[in-house]
Amino acid sequence: MPTTIDSRSTTEDDITAEVLRRFETTPDARLREIMLALVRHLHGFVKDVQLTEREWFEAIQFLTETGRMCDERRQEFILLSDTLGVSMVVDLINHRKPKGATESTVFGPFHRDGAPEMAPGGNIAPRDWDGTPTVITGCVRDLNGNPIAGARLDVWQADSTGLYDSQYPDPEELHMRGLFRTDGEGRYVVRTVRPVHYAIPNDGPVGRMLRATNRHPWRPAHVHFVVSADACEPVTTHIFDDEDPYLASDTVFAVKDSLICHFVRHDERDEAARRFGLDPPFYTVDFDFVLKPRA
Ligand SMILES: [Fe+2]
Repeated sequence: MPTTIDSRSTTEDDITAEVLRRFETTPDARLREIMLALVRHLHGFVKDVQLTEREWFEAIQFLTETGRMCDERRQEFILLSDTLGVSMVVDLINHRKPKGATESTVFGPFHRDGAPEMAPGGNIAPRDWDGTPTVITGCVRDLNGNPIAGARLDVWQADSTGLYDSQYPDPEELHMRGLFRTDGEGRYVVRTVRPVHYAIPNDGPVGRMLRATNRHPWRPAHVHFVVSADACEPVTTHIFDDEDPYLASDTVFAVKDSLICHFVRHDERDEAARRFGLDPPFYTVDFDFVLKPRA
């Protein structure tokens, strides 16, 4: 039945109703659900704020620029999602954890494939001469507390100047990354430098959005991990430094209390110095990862 002229596109609600009608017959049920909700929310948002044409065009330009900033080493759309808190909402919806399992947090835009496999105690920061040496140790366990031998830990972090390797001029250079395996008792040892807080890249549209809204670009000091093992669900997470001033205001909303650790400072030639072959000062931090079984 053709719609009469009177009822077609007269008001903004007519447009919304007609757009929803056109998506009604989407064959894939999930795609239909997503498109209908997207149209409802997007139209609702535009009507709520009574968007002007100029603001609409600025939004188009903002998204265009966000796309233009993206390449193999810079992912401005992930930064946008992270700083709008969308990444953390998606993370929470998708990774409900049973009590005791290590909580997940954002993947972030700085992971790279090709990190070197390292023996226990391998140093992911061999060219960071200014950072304070730090040893991260712990165990990977299942929910029953059983250690998991051969679990895989993909580890990456910013260097002591707060930059990731991909932010340096040489794109081939991998640094501050390593792949580790747990030993027969589920234990791992990673040598690195103490992480520092860093500003997310803010020379693009996301930085402009943060400045215009009186927000800072800082992330509290952290080390990234993806921990995986056969028969278990991998966990993408960070460990955070409990002394960091930005824990309560992480610009990407990624801090969870259970992921905050204490970095212990060593100023003497103590047992840890002998065990890890380090001269003081250095730090140690211990964190156990608990994986839930694969669904
Ligand atoms: Fe990071």
